[in-house]
Amino acid sequence: MPTPGPSAPFPATRFRRLRRTEALRRLVRETSLSPADLIWPVFVMEGEDAETPIPSMPGVARLTIDRVVGAAREAVELGIPAICLFPYIEPELKTEGCEEAWNPDNLSNRAVRAIKAAVPEIAVMTDVALDPYNANGHDGIVKDGVVLNDETVEALVKMALAQAEAGADILGPSDMMDGRIGAIRRALEAAGHKDVTIMSYAAKYASAFYGPFRDAVGASGALKGDKKTYQIDPANSDEALRCVARDIAEGADMVMVKPGMPYLDMVARVREAFAVPTFAYQVSGEYAMLMAAAQNGWLDGEKVMMESLLAFKRAGCDGILTYFAPRAARLMARGG
Ligand code: PBG
Repeated sequence: MPTPGPSAPFPATRFRRLRRTEALRRLVRETSLSPADLIWPVFVMEGEDAETPIPSMPGVARLTIDRVVGAAREAVELGIPAICLFPYIEPELKTEGCEEAWNPDNLSNRAVRAIKAAVPEIAVMTDVALDPYNANGHDGIVKDGVVLNDETVEALVKMALAQAEAGADILGPSDMMDGRIGAIRRALEAAGHKDVTIMSYAAKYASAFYGPFRDAVGASGALKGDKKTYQIDPANSDEALRCVARDIAEGADMVMVKPGMPYLDMVARVREAFAVPTFAYQVSGEYAMLMAAAQNGWLDGEKVMMESLLAFKRAGCDGILTYFAPRAARLMARGG
């Protein structure tokens, strides 16, 4: 970068020239946001034509399958390419062995089939982790207080195959067990699901920002202890890069950083280091923070929503999982 010499006029550079009008600002804008950048996470519950609001996530509700199909239709109309399903599993179906997770007719798999039948053009993403089905709320099988890695991977493979069989386009392993991407990829190939994509939750941190989500899927009460033995320590950066490298080597097509806003440094590092499709999850706690401040009149809700989403793009994201997806897309459709 040239530095001004002693004879240069003052000020050497007037950055404000290009900020003077909206037309000039648009002309030099480096980053853009479109509905195509968004993945809409949706909570699914049993029942018909009903929804249950989630108090810690204002504006978000658990939806019955018929309403999730409606959400998928709305997503397509808004130009949102993908929706991501998270099931609310009734307490009586939660077991220590998590068997419901690979039931071909479980809630999530029925929802996938219903969406693909009614709205085939949308990409459906599913969550590969045991927590909604686990009596103790953990992402893996627990024995004597320890989350077992290899036994969990075996269960995740069964779960992933059932989801692929149901028609999921994108599998999202969010469990953070070691070796699960490779095991799932091999099983998919062997079963003839060669084109099912994997978006690995590769840099997933042991974060306190997931609180409202655990309410939404009914895992909060069940969870014993924390997830620090499998999710990444928020203090670590290089370790997360090694996790991403490993998951790409094992067969992930896309990778994710999670949470989002407090971890944009990781988005930038991952993008720079690997140049693979990179996503971030603006998680439930980030959504709750912005909504709470907006509802109190402390922040302009629409403006911080759009600014936060643009920041993900600027950091290097190809796309963002966000509960704001339909609202942001509607705003963009109106030219906002
Ligand atoms: C669990 C899972 C979590 C989220 C997505 N998948 C929570 C956790 O790891 O405890 C969090 C998403 C959010 O907070 O919005 N497999």
